Amino acid sequence: MSTLLEVGGVKISRDDVVRENDPTNNVPDSIFSKIGLQLHRRDNHPLGILKQEIYSYFDNNFPGLFNKFDNLCPVVSVKMNFDDVLVPHDHVSRTYNDTYYINAETVLRCHTSAHQAELLREGHSYFLVTGDVYRRDSVDSTHYPVFHQMEGFRVFTPVDWEASGVDGTSYAAMDLKKTLEGLAQHLFGNVEMRWVDAYFPFTDPSFELEIYFQGNWMEVLGCGVTEQKILINNGRTGSTAWAFGLGLERLAMVLFDIPDIRLFWSSDLRFTSQFSSGQLGVKFKPFSKFPPCYKDISFWISESFTENNFCEVVRGIAGDLAEQVSLIDSFTNKKGMTSHCYRITYRSMERSLTDEEINQLQGRVRDEVENKLNVTIR
Ligand code: PHE
Repeated sequence: MSTLLEVGGVKISRDDVVRENDPTNNVPDSIFSKIGLQLHRRDNHPLGILKQEIYSYFDNNFPGLFNKFDNLCPVVSVKMNFDDVLVPHDHVSRTYNDTYYINAETVLRCHTSAHQAELLREGHSYFLVTGDVYRRDSVDSTHYPVFHQMEGFRVFTPVDWEASGVDGTSYAAMDLKKTLEGLAQHLFGNVEMRWVDAYFPFTDPSFELEIYFQGNWMEVLGCGVTEQKILINNGRTGSTAWAFGLGLERLAMVLFDIPDIRLFWSSDLRFTSQFSSGQLGVKFKPFSKFPPCYKDISFWISESFTENNFCEVVRGIAGDLAEQVSLIDSFTNKKGMTSHCYRITYRSMERSLTDEEINQLQGRVRDEVENKLNVTIR
């Protein structure tokens, strides 16, 4: 019997999502196991607390305006995830190296922007969409292949900007900046902020908001004025709009002092018991840090090798015991063969690991790397 779950009214079975021998599919069980957990819908979880706090900001400043969605299914079409938001056909985010494909036409959304067009077509003009998003990536304390985003979207019609003396695009850009500066202040207090020009396929102009926090400029979100084509394609000719997308983990790590992104997934009471609904920014008190264990692995790579593929093998075997994967040496010999040496840091957040279990994990990593990645262990 295949595991069956339901998200936002959509039934999903394991065999629909994970098909090891299908070359159009690259979703491992470790990713399937995260679908439906919806950390952002837990009231006493840092991500749920942060989501609520952002909701409060919008509710207080724009009573009754924004519709909120936090239960839209993460399984979406390539059209929704990419085409509808004008992502070019040769954009890296479309590759199998960056995105989880269920088949050639279906992906696990890599951003909440995947829902913009659908919601516009349903008639929504002001909305916040929170959800789990999926990206193939490296392994370290701030990257995890599943994380959470909130998308904001606001449409303007000519009556909104006519009296202002500026055109619709400038009006949307001004309103966007004002709204998001207010949000950053609501979350972080009186911090220094700056706007940096950016590029996104779905907005023009595009910006990133950075805040000066604990001695560093930190990117808080990406945003911009929605491309006209998206509005026209979805029944909003004559309108302008703004959109933003922010990563909840990144903000929560700073606001709650959470040092490692894996902690969000922990069910250890020493983590979960520290947070409660309505309490933004209560500082996390780390429980004792257990010792790390380092293991190196060296192999000759082939053309098809990518670091994301390697990291996924490690995560598939070690799960959240894999703290970091880093390339520590690389060279090419006279015959043109390239060797990589990776150091894997194993560490549990919750207990000490034994040599025996680490050796066993590392042994499985070596076997699977050789069998699956077309490399030669040295
Ligand atoms: N979707 C973008 C990302 O994931 C963020 C974004 C959303 C940028 C909306 C602009 C407008 O990086």
